[in-house]
Amino acid sequence: MATAFSFAQTTLFSKTSPSLRTACLRSFTFCLPFSSSSTDLSSDKLHNKKWRQPVASVLELGGVKIAKDDVLRDDPTNNVPDTIFAKLGLQLHRRDQHPLGILKNAIYEYFDTNYSNQFDKFDNLCPIVSVKENFDNVLVPADHVSRSYNDTYYIDSQTVLRCHTSAHQAEILRRGQTHFLVTGDVYRRDSIDSTHYPVFHQMEGVRVFSPQDWEASGTDGTSYAAGDLKKCLEGLARHLFGSVEMRWVDTYFPFTNPSFELEIFFQEKWLEVLGCGVTEQEILRRSGKTDNVAWAFGLGLERLAMVLFDIPDIRLFWSTDERFTSQFLSGQLGIKFKPFSKYPPCYKDVSFWINESFTENNLCEVVREVAGDLAEEVQLIDNFTNKKGMTSHCYRIAYRSMERSLTDDEINKLQWNVRELVQSKLNVVLR
Ligand code: DAH
Repeated sequence: MATAFSFAQTTLFSKTSPSLRTACLRSFTFCLPFSSSSTDLSSDKLHNKKWRQPVASVLELGGVKIAKDDVLRDDPTNNVPDTIFAKLGLQLHRRDQHPLGILKNAIYEYFDTNYSNQFDKFDNLCPIVSVKENFDNVLVPADHVSRSYNDTYYIDSQTVLRCHTSAHQAEILRRGQTHFLVTGDVYRRDSIDSTHYPVFHQMEGVRVFSPQDWEASGTDGTSYAAGDLKKCLEGLARHLFGSVEMRWVDTYFPFTNPSFELEIFFQEKWLEVLGCGVTEQEILRRSGKTDNVAWAFGLGLERLAMVLFDIPDIRLFWSTDERFTSQFLSGQLGIKFKPFSKYPPCYKDVSFWINESFTENNLCEVVREVAGDLAEEVQLIDNFTNKKGMTSHCYRIAYRSMERSLTDDEINKLQWNVRELVQSKLNVVLR
């Protein structure tokens, strides 16, 4: 599971390529998955070609065209596979008939109604950001695990696919905005199961206060902002879920202090809805807002949409099957998804001796590369170390299409390819 900042589940300013600033990263690299841990890059690359699915050759991201030729540039730090490249620019959150677009619009409606259209909305910012924007600007510590190649997709050593919409906070604050919402696709290397997918969508909200806002209230700026934040987000939760029971849980985020999570009691369970807090003063100071106080929140759209629309598997959001897409209507948050049919899963095990650089995220990347959305779950089912100190892992892979029955032959081929790639890319020894 990704170990970024949050719970369940995630421009362009490379030091080495200043021209990228203006052009939303004209040249970046997508080539060798896991090259950070791979030893034989050349054979890896050759091998890799065989399994790549064709992807669009020119993308439009945040109004900027990016050619695939610009993208396919060798860089030893690049760990973005074609399967992820293929998701860039799809922008599910901008489709009004899609559950994620419907949810985004419902949240917009809440803010527009309650704050007289004061919140500016950004939903088309380029997901390719600098390491500085993604991490440094929001005070993510230098040794934070979310910075690792195992957790984040690096285009080169200074450029990543944003792993959270917080990556845009500082820049927008610097431009002088005081009320804004940022929605976008975010990317995290991750495990495979029904609630994790390496691309998902977040919305970030920020509100800045001036001294006159809190002075009249008789409290300090931080308490005032925290109170306002909680009121705002409780209202949002009621707007989305109706009159539900809620609770606040203290937590930690690098960018806020104090930091909270909001949970709601929904369908007999406590559900984490979002993370938030009072923005660290250092972020405001660097944006030229020394005298101000601000709050910020971040929420995962899939997580909420799965509950609100009864969507049982996160892969469905990417489905182009009409039996899925035709079930949702613009502006209608209450519609419950009716599964069209459940096709049987097929389980296959793979066992191997791991090495020092083995990680589960790397394995999952291989599985996704071979099986794409046919991979439903990858689960460690056995783990032992022998007398010589060698450690063996056995993983069970569940293959299932949400759209059709898979044939034995098809699954056997997928499994065979997984076994081959696991050996060649992860340098593990099959048992
Ligand atoms: N960026 C966080 C994540 O991806 C979510 C988040 C938490 C955003 C708290 C915020 C915040 O702005 O204040 O896990």
